[in-house]
Amino acid sequence: MLTTMPTTPALADALTAVETEIGRLATSSRVPVVNEFAGRITSAGGKRLRSVVLLGGVLALSGRVPDQAVTAAACVELLHAGSLVHDDLMDDAAERRGVRTVNAEWGPGPAVLVGDFMLARASQAALDTVSPFAAGRLAEAVADLVDGQVLEVLDLYDAHRSPDGALRSVALKTGALFRVGCVLAAHCAGVPDGGEVAVRLAEYGEHFGLLFQILDDLLDLASTAEQVGKPVGNDIRQGVYTFPLLRALTGAQRELLAERGRSLADEELARLLAELRAGDLVPETLAYCRSLAAQTTRALPEVADSAALDVLRRLPAAHLDWAASRLG
Ligand code: IPE
Ligand code: IPE
Ligand code: MG
Ligand code: MG
Repeated sequence: MLTTMPTTPALADALTAVETEIGRLATSSRVPVVNEFAGRITSAGGKRLRSVVLLGGVLALSGRVPDQAVTAAACVELLHAGSLVHDDLMDDAAERRGVRTVNAEWGPGPAVLVGDFMLARASQAALDTVSPFAAGRLAEAVADLVDGQVLEVLDLYDAHRSPDGALRSVALKTGALFRVGCVLAAHCAGVPDGGEVAVRLAEYGEHFGLLFQILDDLLDLASTAEQVGKPVGNDIRQGVYTFPLLRALTGAQRELLAERGRSLADEELARLLAELRAGDLVPETLAYCRSLAAQTTRALPEVADSAALDVLRRLPAAHLDWAASRLG
């Protein structure tokens, strides 16, 4: 899936090492069935974008990828995948990364446990192998992610949710993991925590996370399951009124959701999606994302130019192109 993404040989080598580390951590339970399910989602792909950002960051700042950074990237991916196991349970989703979800295959209780196992192993590896600072920042990111998901739950089926309210949730539920990847990149590169370089890289991560989630929300409204490897059209059905949707709704469409959001018939949802796809939703969201991509790139710290810095510079627009190619 990374074929259209910018990379460098050093980054590609580091990603291979991260893959091995993810596999090791995800299959480190004494109970084989836990390894089977945690191993299945982690080995089924995923774009590894949080790792690309972390490894690109550490390379851009230090010119090398220390072993600690490989473990840090694996921890971020494991936290991300564990949060997806829980998210799929909350969404009652049957497919993720092109394979059956834990909740669909084994049930809701085990999905809680497998997700917990993944979160716990990531925290343990961060503490044992990276540093107490890294473990603390990762735990903070998980708490942010939970806050973001809870804010989303509180606004379910609210057709008058403001676009800014949706963005606040997104900055926490998705921005936090990209942001912490950047914080750990600076940390593993030996750059002072909280210094200007670290702060600007963290800002890059947070903006990238926003861009990333807005595009994911757009794909849910205007792509297909074959294109993205997970179900689409679910956000409206489940009452998650996302930033691109809230900006695109006409008065009549908003009224429809306010009155009948919880009980929309399949034909009503299909008609609404068709109207949205034929209207301004796609061009307006892509225009917003283009400007956010430029803002993301501008946040990058001023450090010596390198191939890795160039990857970070090109990543926002490349991801936008990747998403745009999966529309319709
Ligand atoms: C999915 O993230 C969850 C969101 C934050 C939208 P990704 O799209 O990065 O999932 P994978 O890792 O590539 O499967
Ligand atoms: C939630 O976002 C993912 C997390 C941040 C835990 P979504 O609900 O949009 O993710 P998908 O669309 O299921 O991948
Ligand atoms: Mg979901
Ligand atoms: Mg989504």
